Amino acid sequence: MTELVRIIYISRATFDSLPAADGVEPTVSRILSTSRRNNRRNGLVGMLYYGDGCFFQCLEGERSKVEGLYRTLLKDKRHCDLKILASEPIKRLSFPDWNMKYVPLDQSMSRLMTEHGFDRFDPYRFDHHLVERVMQLMQGVPDPTEPAPESRPSSPSRSIQLDTPDNGSPAAASASSSNRLLPAIAIGFSSLALLISLVCLGMQLGWF
Ligand SMILES: Cc1cc2nc3c(=O)[nH]c(=O)nc-3n(C[C@H](O)[C@H](O)[C@H](O)COP(=O)(O)O)c2cc1C
Repeated sequence: MTELVRIIYISRATFDSLPAADGVEPTVSRILSTSRRNNRRNGLVGMLYYGDGCFFQCLEGERSKVEGLYRTLLKDKRHCDLKILASEPIKRLSFPDWNMKYVPLDQSMSRLMTEHGFDRFDPYRFDHHLVERVMQLMQGVPDPTEPAPESRPSSPSRSIQLDTPDNGSPAAASASSSNRLLPAIAIGFSSLALLISLVCLGMQLGWF
């Protein structure tokens, strides 16, 4: 069984933000394209948030792949001051359908910052609770830069085996058992109809 881990880290962008093209800052957009391509290949999932010159990224997947990527990230000159906020084994992926989910700064994030007395997105001052809140917020909102997961052809999480009942949820189990039941019911009804027809035929022919 592969060991799944999650790393949440923050960093500061070293580039000056340019006006967003299609809702995403151009350098961030390039980072996203590379991330999605590579992460799909490596079975990694996660999310990236960029706001007020800071990155907040969650990476999930096989331990060796996540740690390998983090070593690459440490050398990337587009950001600095990398700080790990969480690093832990996990049973369940938080972003199972996203090679790299991206949600630009929106009102709910500003509201969350204001609620916690921040006038901007400053993850270096986040406590554990606020890290969790950001994670929950990012899980709950759709990614406008990618089509919804259900309309995409393949989902990266399918290649990762979890030891949780993700691939066998109660809904999926009842769906598959009803799939098995339907043909049996159909055969039952057909047999009954055949039997009735035979009885009718027999009565007409005077068998009974
Ligand atoms: C904030 C930030 C987040 C990144 N996230 C990822 C990522 O999730 N996956 C990835 O492969 N590269 C990511 N990168 C890019 C890597 O640092 C590196 O440039 C890239 O993996 C090299 O890929 P290539 O050899 O295909 O060009 C990120 C870079 C930055 C600055």
